[in-house]
Amino acid sequence: GDVAVLVPAAGAGVRLGPGGPKALRRIGGEPLLVHAVRRIAAAGPVHTVVVAAPPGDAEAVRELLAPIAELTVVTGGATRQESVAAALAAVPPGPEIVLVHDAARALTPTTLFESVAEAVRGGEDAVIPVLPVVDTVKEVTAAGVVLGTVDRSALRAVQTPQGFRRSVLAAAHAAAADPLTDDAGLVEKLGVPVSCVPGSEYAMKITRPFDLALAEHLLSAVPLAGHH
Ligand code: CTP
Ligand code: MG
Repeated sequence: GDVAVLVPAAGAGVRLGPGGPKALRRIGGEPLLVHAVRRIAAAGPVHTVVVAAPPGDAEAVRELLAPIAELTVVTGGATRQESVAAALAAVPPGPEIVLVHDAARALTPTTLFESVAEAVRGGEDAVIPVLPVVDTVKEVTAAGVVLGTVDRSALRAVQTPQGFRRSVLAAAHAAAADPLTDDAGLVEKLGVPVSCVPGSEYAMKITRPFDLALAEHLLSAVPLAGHH
């Protein structure tokens, strides 16, 4: 394999409510991080997996994931960006393609890791999986008054895994100033083109309690949901 996958998993999961770090919350009896790493480990080109664990949980995460894949666990930071940077610093020499994938997107299909990696291998510097925006989108004031309707045909909802030529991701993180919520955003600031591949509804981010319930249902309906 020529691909390293970084898994930021250090977030607190504030929007999910009480119950501990989100990556360790369970669906189908197993932590979200286990579901995510199992799908990553099944992807063909994966050489290295580096997980950024919640502060204080690195040892527990190492034990949890050891039966699934050979991987490296580092302690994450205060922001997602810091967690990704810590994981990137732990990638050994070798892999020239780096994917960054949220543990919170626990049901992401194995095929999506492969299609993103393939697009980078084909020559793209930066690749993101996207879906069309299905709702009508409006711009509003702080007081809730509509300013206008946004042209939705030009908008995309962005998922992970996001894929990069390793040197491009390293340069983007080295140049990073304000924290952004995704890695492609840092690459855009370098002026490097970012291209899109089709995303997957299974790559939904588990953010709020509704999402956790939805993921639980998907898993009980299709036990290997996304594991294809
Ligand atoms: N993440 C991380 N380090 C942080 C913050 C987030 O590794 N300091 C990870 C999360 O674990 C998650 C991914 O980045 O896998 C996407 O972040 P998000 O969905 O916002 O998760 P949380 O930050 O945990 O959730 P919340 O914002 O509701 O607290
Ligand atoms: Mg967050």
